[in-house]
Amino acid sequence: MATLGELTRQHTDLNRDDIDHLLRLIGEWGLLADLSFADLLLYLPGTDGTWYVMAHVRPATGQTIYHHDYVGSPAVGEEVPLLAKAYASGEICEGEFGVEGIPDPVRMMAVPVRTGDRVLAVLTREASSRSSRQPGELERTYVGLFQRFASMICEGLFPFSGPVADSSAAPRVGDGVMALDEEARVRFASPNAVSALHRVGIGANAVGMRLAELGFNDSPVRLAFESKLPVIEEFEQTPDVTLLARCLPLLSGAERRIAGGILLVRDVTEVRKRDKLLLSKDATIREIHHRVKNNLQTISSLLRLQGRRLTSPEAKAAVAESVRRIRTIALVHETLSREPGDDVAFLEIVRPLLRLAEEGLQSPDRPVRFTVQGEGGRLPSTIATPLSVVLTELLQNAVDHGFPEGSAGGDVVVVLDNADGVLKIRVINDGRGLEPGFELNKATGLGLSIVRTLVTTELDGTIAMRSGQPDDFQAVGLGDQPRGSGTVVDLTVPV
Ligand SMILES: Nc1ncnc2c1ncn2[C@@H]1O[C@H](COP(=O)(O)OP(=O)(O)OP(=O)(O)O)[C@@H](O)[C@H]1O
Ligand SMILES: [Mg+2]
Repeated sequence: MATLGELTRQHTDLNRDDIDHLLRLIGEWGLLADLSFADLLLYLPGTDGTWYVMAHVRPATGQTIYHHDYVGSPAVGEEVPLLAKAYASGEICEGEFGVEGIPDPVRMMAVPVRTGDRVLAVLTREASSRSSRQPGELERTYVGLFQRFASMICEGLFPFSGPVADSSAAPRVGDGVMALDEEARVRFASPNAVSALHRVGIGANAVGMRLAELGFNDSPVRLAFESKLPVIEEFEQTPDVTLLARCLPLLSGAERRIAGGILLVRDVTEVRKRDKLLLSKDATIREIHHRVKNNLQTISSLLRLQGRRLTSPEAKAAVAESVRRIRTIALVHETLSREPGDDVAFLEIVRPLLRLAEEGLQSPDRPVRFTVQGEGGRLPSTIATPLSVVLTELLQNAVDHGFPEGSAGGDVVVVLDNADGVLKIRVINDGRGLEPGFELNKATGLGLSIVRTLVTTELDGTIAMRSGQPDDFQAVGLGDQPRGSGTVVDLTVPV
């Protein structure tokens, strides 16, 4: 379906400000349709002299008379003279006419939409002339309020300037309505509004009273009356009841005198309770990750202390390795403690892992450059943690075996690719390649044993290792003259 913006550009030569005025009008007119219990349509005269239906809203409080969608179609029936009259005179006009396919005549109120000294369009209220309902006090009050808004539209006082309220969150007529007079006294409260007052312990009859006298938060009303603009505010009226209130001032005359107001109230207690629960669950998860990280740091410090007391270089190296592995896991938990929920952007972990590997490189005579390409997407902590340990081992191996002491250094590239539920990780280096006859399954070192175990049992994935080919280096931008035959390690992990 075409939008109002598209239709106006197609059929009229209105400028941006004019279109904006109309967009703000239809941003707010759900409220007007609800107050008028009727369909509202917006008509514009096209440059070809034809009137077009540009927008339509049905009431949530009553029945629509139009089951068809007329948006974008030309108006050709008996409504045209009435539209033209309202447009030319700048006055609200009313009339009654037959519409094909509708048994009873349609009553139409045509409201010129003014901005400044120009009429841009005509907004109509269209309802069956034979309403089955006897209007009660509520209906009379609502229609009266609609008529006040209609006068404001005709005088160019509605829609208000400034942003339109978020219609998905703002309270609606069905949530509860209070009509206020020019002194902000309650003149009418809808049954739902009365119930809302009861829930916050206000049992007195509100009619004739100011909200403050009732003990009800009147700040949105005061603000709206002062600023002559709509005000939306959420507040805890009592410790157990959270309300969302929106006040629209009713203005009249060129001097924009306050003639009253309308206050819509919605009880959002349940919604906010759920939000709070979710928030606190999130905070708890993060706190737990934070504590795990602290505990791991304590363990690695203890190990480091212990390592210093050892004399055998082999034992010292083994303990140092363990310290490094624990730091990797701590780093994952630190990242998780900063992110909401229990999953994490994998790149946020890979980057610091590369930094760790870089820091672990002690000799400046064989510079090794670490880079990462691609995105890993978001991963749950159950995958991110073992995967980080695996990646650390692979990076360490690239440094230890690809660029051993005495070599010239080179590049290590990590390529991430997360698509169709499979995360692919490639770790490639252009250093000294694998020893001849190397077989992954026969490798006896602890590092690759950890990698194999985690990848095949914890992660349900696969791992492959081979020597690098020119294509591999080309693909990651290392050119076709790598320093050594290099190594390519490929992991796939279902996520
Ligand atoms: N990137 C690599 N380039 C060349 N050879 C490698 C590479 N990765 C692993 N290897 C070979 O695989 C062997 C086993 O590696 P593994 O990580 O299991 O043990 P390690 O690195 O020797 O000791 P550690 O237990 O400290 O990791 C290495 O000794 C090495 O020969
Ligand atoms: Mg190793």
